[in-house]
Amino acid sequence: MLNILKNISLKPYNTFGVEVLAKKFADISSVEQFKQLIRQADLQTEEMLILGGGSNILFTNDFNGLVIKNSIGGISIIVETDAHVIISAGAGVMWDDLVNFCVNKNFGGIENLKLIPGTVGAAPIQNIGAYGAELVDVFESLTGMFIQNYEEKTFTKVECKFGYRSSIFKTDLKGKFFITELKLKLNKKPKVNLSYKALKDSVEEEGIANPTIKDISRHVKNIRESKLPNPSDIGNAGSFFKNAEVHRSKVEELIKVYPDLVFYKVDNETMKIPSGWLIDKCGLKGLRKGNTGTHDKQALVIVNRGGATGKEIFEVAMFVKEKVKNVFGIELIPEVNII
Ligand code: FAD
Ligand code: EPU
Repeated sequence: MLNILKNISLKPYNTFGVEVLAKKFADISSVEQFKQLIRQADLQTEEMLILGGGSNILFTNDFNGLVIKNSIGGISIIVETDAHVIISAGAGVMWDDLVNFCVNKNFGGIENLKLIPGTVGAAPIQNIGAYGAELVDVFESLTGMFIQNYEEKTFTKVECKFGYRSSIFKTDLKGKFFITELKLKLNKKPKVNLSYKALKDSVEEEGIANPTIKDISRHVKNIRESKLPNPSDIGNAGSFFKNAEVHRSKVEELIKVYPDLVFYKVDNETMKIPSGWLIDKCGLKGLRKGNTGTHDKQALVIVNRGGATGKEIFEVAMFVKEKVKNVFGIELIPEVNII
């Protein structure tokens, strides 16, 4: 029998540092343990939540069910050719440990995703992305099981329906599938990806002639540390909202009023406007409301300066959303999973 804890504080298990209780809590380190756990009769009717590093989640209430902390470990190279490797990683491995493993072996493809908090298993859920790279670029397959009937399934890239901060696991299968293993295809002759301007500028400033993927991961680390708050100092879950995807006519309308508008082309019809820019332009960077508000250096990051409740954080997020809607007519969509 697995040890099931009762009325456990989730404060150490979410990067907002919100104090809520889980009615039941179990930490599993293998698929076998998960199967053992769910066979226990009294758990069959419980609501379940799979928890990784808790870095993309906002608890607004106590969780009246079973929280399963996923600690399934293991990293291995399962296929190797002259050009590529396929790496398999347990879903409970910390994402940054996997990045370090690959960078140290000069396997290219995830160095731009250096320092993203959380676990490997959560990475496909929102197709994590940063500095010109996304998980989908290196995704090979993932395996797991449906929570309702424990049926196992391997998903291909197409089946995952990856999009910007999205996948089938954040839409149709939200809360319904437990990812236990991820496979990535990485390059043994890596080319550095400097498509993100801030990263390119940073590398050029240092003046190294032929940057390696190790250099890239180091620069990404430096940039991230310069603007994103470390959750161990200030509670947060990274960007609270997705960047705004709008029709190009919206950009044409706004640029007349805001000549300094920042935007990127997605396709011929769609443009992306950084939500951080929109919030900042509303005068809400560094907002303080009780113990919560927005980060002083990045308006898109909602913070817990200590002691805020999940409800207070959520209310601030909704205040920010309302303000952006009133000023720009743009509806921000949360990136963070609100429970
Ligand atoms: P959790 O928060 O534990 O879970 C997130 C969701 O996934 C929940 O709904 C949970 O139920 C579900 N889930 C978790 N594991 C599994 C599983 N194995 N199977 C099924 N469902 C599961 N994200 C980016 O994309 N790019 C960034 O640059 C970035 N920067 C960040 C910076 C900071 C400082 C912080 C705090 C967060 C940042 N994030 C970023 C968000 C976050 O790190 C990622 O979304 C990460 O993948 C979340 O992993 P996690 O294990 O903490 O997930
Ligand atoms: N900006 C402002 N004011 C702000 C914040 C941003 O004017 O307060 C402007 C910046 O000057 C810049 C633009 O907005 O011109 C974009 O800002 P930044 O480069 O900081 O990136 P972002 O769009 O805010 C996105 C991701 C991050 C990811 C970075 C790097 C989303 C929602 N966020 O942030 O991901 O790390 O790019 O690629 O797509 C996350 O998802 O949690 C996350 C941190």
